[in-house]
Amino acid sequence: MSSYRVAPANQVQGRVRVPGDKSISHRSVMLGGIADGRTEVTGFLASADCLATLEAFRAMGVQVDRHDETSLTVHGRGLHGLSAPRTVLDMGNAGTAIRLSMGLLAGQRFESVLTGDESLRSRPMERVARPLREMGADILTTDGKPPVTVRPAARLQGIDYALPMASAQVKSAILLAGLYAEGQTVVTEPAPTRDHTERMLRGFGLAVQSNGPRIQLAGGQRLQGTRVAVPGDISSAAFFLVAGCLAGKDGYVVENVGVNPTRTGILDILRLMGADLTLHPRASQGGEPVADIELRRSQLRGIAVPESLVPLAIDELPVLFIAAAGAQGETVFTGAEELRVKESDRLAVMAEGLARTGVPHELARDGIRIQGGHRLQAAEIQSHGDHRIAMAFTVASLLADGELTIRDVENVGTSFPGFAQTARSCGLAVGEA
Ligand code: S3P
Repeated sequence: MSSYRVAPANQVQGRVRVPGDKSISHRSVMLGGIADGRTEVTGFLASADCLATLEAFRAMGVQVDRHDETSLTVHGRGLHGLSAPRTVLDMGNAGTAIRLSMGLLAGQRFESVLTGDESLRSRPMERVARPLREMGADILTTDGKPPVTVRPAARLQGIDYALPMASAQVKSAILLAGLYAEGQTVVTEPAPTRDHTERMLRGFGLAVQSNGPRIQLAGGQRLQGTRVAVPGDISSAAFFLVAGCLAGKDGYVVENVGVNPTRTGILDILRLMGADLTLHPRASQGGEPVADIELRRSQLRGIAVPESLVPLAIDELPVLFIAAAGAQGETVFTGAEELRVKESDRLAVMAEGLARTGVPHELARDGIRIQGGHRLQAAEIQSHGDHRIAMAFTVASLLADGELTIRDVENVGTSFPGFAQTARSCGLAVGEA
């Protein structure tokens, strides 16, 4: 198992560029695969997670030509053109791949079995299976988890479903099943979540209505192949955004970041904490707003993070805990119980790492209270195979007095291939062992 050894650093500088957005990359292959005609994707994230989606769609008969690392052509098979895979579909570490595929596969005329790695096989799937069954889908989970078997359904019927939790994956799975359902499918969200599925469906020519928390589409609409330019992933940028707040030299910029308002909770939270950050807008890509983000070292202060921002920053919370450790005073996160069912139990695993580095904190069922303003001590940190935990503690080296050894970091490649190199390029002292 590989590790990072990260020596203390006190400045980040220059211009940083992060790879393509993971959520958008998954969706580009899925929607491209069921569209009529070709879809040209640029800026694709060639990470283990998105490649799992790509291979799964290849296994269902979709030809995908890879021109280079980040550009590809998806030869769509049309709404009813996928074919039965010959093997189990292995989605690796990717929650988005398995959950969105469950929705899409619910409407196919063949049986498929979906599974993943140990982490994915411990994650809840009934949150998707249940509403899909209400639509008429025939889905079996294994004690609520993968492997998941999706059998052909006699027919799917549109539903009007109130999501019990703020989850873009559940919302998206229902909307994708809705493409194969009779009548209208309506999903109501308890709080806004990332809307990449809705935006991309529109990009493929579909009518999708969003009316406040209600999202609606009619079944049977056909997708037209299109171009998808994937912007940089704000969830990958997050590590360098927090690094910039803690230690950015004048002129430090994180370039080409997707700033869809359903993803920018991190910017709002950092601003509330006193961050000096400026957005320089660029032309939009793939129906998504994009900006360069300039940051300077700022004295952050502790805040009570508004719960409404939590779903808009859900994947960025681990590194925001590191920002909180560097802030003056106490930062309180609540309403974040969804963190317990991510690639790891991110509340427990972050608390364990904070304890090892000597950061005073108090863990709660749905959040954490962190006392900032202390230097971090040298420690060995177990990431529990969670990419975002490993990257968050790499950034913590800007607050540390000694070396941080971060264990079990191979899954960084599920979302951010080349992370250690990018981190070194701006001044973090990451060694790989
Ligand atoms: C994602 C939605 C979020 C997020 C995940 C990607 C998506 O999950 O944590 O990394 O692409 O729709 P939930 O829908 O479970 O909150």
